[in-house]
Amino acid sequence: MKPPKPLNLDDVPGAPPPGSVLCDVSELGPRDSKSFVFKDGNLRFEMFLQRWDDEVFAYKNSCPHVRLPLDYRPGKFLDYDKKHIHCANHGALFRVEDGYCIKGPCKGKFLTPVDVIRRGDEIIVG
Ligand code: FES
Repeated sequence: MKPPKPLNLDDVPGAPPPGSVLCDVSELGPRDSKSFVFKDGNLRFEMFLQRWDDEVFAYKNSCPHVRLPLDYRPGKFLDYDKKHIHCANHGALFRVEDGYCIKGPCKGKFLTPVDVIRRGDEIIVG
């Protein structure tokens, strides 16, 4: 099963436009996460970045089980062992590198990746 195509935020109401700077890589430690909430009137879009050593992955903050945000505290997405992304609602575990759910009520489904790119040390909306 292939992961879904990254979500292009240009098509998402309330999300920042392509080219928007999200953060600098130096703000994230080797296993740190950072969440973002964007609001535009009544529109709201939530996403997060997960640093994984030298890489940074971006996902919509919405669990494929019942579409709730995953973090148990704002910006805390990894499980206790810091090996998988963890949904705090019903315990689903996802691979960091592709968002595939390996355990839990949405096993076999994927998180929605978000199109971001790295420009030097900056993470920007793709
Ligand atoms: S909402 Fe994530 S496991 Fe239920």
